[in-house]
Amino acid sequence: MESVFCVVAPPCLALHNKQSRHNPPVPIDFRDPANRRTYSDREADVSWREAVAALVDPAGADVVDVGCGGGTYLRAWHDLGAATVTGVDSSAPILDAARESHGHLPGVSFQLGDAAATGLDAGCADVVFERALIHHVPDLGAVAVEAARILRPGGLLLIQDRTPDDVAQPGSVDHPRGWLFDLYPRLLDVEKARRPGPSLVGAELTAAGFGEVATTTLWEVRRRYADREDYLAEIALRTGRSILHDLSNDELADLVEELRRRIPDGPLVEQDRWTIWRAVRVS
Ligand SMILES: C[S@@+](CC[C@H](N)C(=O)[O-])C[C@H]1O[C@@H](n2cnc3c(N)ncnc32)[C@H](O)[C@@H]1O
Repeated sequence: MESVFCVVAPPCLALHNKQSRHNPPVPIDFRDPANRRTYSDREADVSWREAVAALVDPAGADVVDVGCGGGTYLRAWHDLGAATVTGVDSSAPILDAARESHGHLPGVSFQLGDAAATGLDAGCADVVFERALIHHVPDLGAVAVEAARILRPGGLLLIQDRTPDDVAQPGSVDHPRGWLFDLYPRLLDVEKARRPGPSLVGAELTAAGFGEVATTTLWEVRRRYADREDYLAEIALRTGRSILHDLSNDELADLVEELRRRIPDGPLVEQDRWTIWRAVRVS
């Protein structure tokens, strides 16, 4: 659907200049118990399952999901037939929420730890998976070295994250997140600055002892909503989207109103573009 936003007499042009003195942005704090369920209660879509199955055979594998959040993908690895799945996260409240949701599954366990120092045994994993993690870590090289340490020789590291190019994809009804940057261009600068590009990630992986480093692009369905209002309610709560914590309450309210104008009433399938790095731990 074509956007009709900002064609004539755009009140929106003033939005990103708006002063928010009374409720300035507060970056997400993963350790705040209030955010414990921000990455919970979502299922990995079939688009993700098919993409992963094309990159690795999960059947019988020992998988470590680093930065597992609420356990959406930990659950998916279990469903794909992994023998064991260990969820690692540095946030105790988020890990507790993941344990509440998925701790009953056979072969599933949890470990409080940092991506650069998981506390797991060396050579314990066939697959290390890191989704939406690397743009949060201060030292990507150390994270890559730790992944290499816990993988068996020949094991696979899968990193799924959005590159600067992925986040700059234009908005559409299928990808409303892209419209965020029409309204608040400064956030695109924030995103580009915090997200490593393919060459940097590739160099860190090679330096950490990985070989056969390759990337694929995935338009992953993040969630299917029965109605636009269900999606907007999630945006208003900032659920699962750390960049929304860079908006003040006023800016967030303006964003919700603008999205309501752009997205037709009815079902919505939200997709985002991702890059997946596949790398083999050389023996
Ligand atoms: C954006 S969420 C992604 C959650 C999940 N992987 C997903 O894709 O739904 C990032 C997660 O990484 C965790 N995290 C951030 N920095 C970390 C670090 N240095 N070590 C381990 N976990 C970290 C956060 O607590 C949070 O749960």
